[in-house]
Amino acid sequence: MFSIITHNKNKYMEIKKFIPALRMVEMEYPEIQADTLEEVVMFALQYLRPRIEGNYIIDDSGLFIDALNGFPGVYSAYVFKTIGNDGILRLLRGVENRSATFKTVIGLHYQGENFLFTGICRGSIIYEMRGNNGFGYDPIFVPEGFTRTFAEMSTSEKNAVSHRGNAIKKMVEFLKERDAI
Ligand code: IMP
Repeated sequence: MFSIITHNKNKYMEIKKFIPALRMVEMEYPEIQADTLEEVVMFALQYLRPRIEGNYIIDDSGLFIDALNGFPGVYSAYVFKTIGNDGILRLLRGVENRSATFKTVIGLHYQGENFLFTGICRGSIIYEMRGNNGFGYDPIFVPEGFTRTFAEMSTSEKNAVSHRGNAIKKMVEFLKERDAI
């Protein structure tokens, strides 16, 4: 049995495509202020250990914009809540370098041990929001090699190239090697 600890239904649906038996558990856990997603995830995995039964997954992601030296990065959730996509587009007004990287770190607690799986997706920030699917920064991000934003893709299309998709694929390989799924 695998649980994902999140309030984000979209993340759940994306990961469930790979692990159909996945269960969503809405429980609060501390997201510490740290320099890396890896530290945030490790802390949360340890915090959850006595609180969750069985195997569980958490996902921490961020958008790293080159022209802003990696901002909002580990602050992506706070920045999205405060200034949102409009705010990011304003910060990039007149900026030619639109390159950005999405990164996901998935933390897996499996049979008493913690494991991390990382996925990235390079792409660019467009000039106005497009699309209604997905969540968060999806309407302003076009992955490399595409013209549509994540918000203009289906869940499966996004999973095929996304940071989260790439992290999940590594986790799925790990679990298949152990006959866990
Ligand atoms: P967290 O992983 O939930 O802490 O996400 C940090 C911020 O990035 C939140 O504002 C999310 O909405 C946003 N975010 C996380 N993953 C994605 C994604 O796949 N697409 C767009 N935005 C995302």
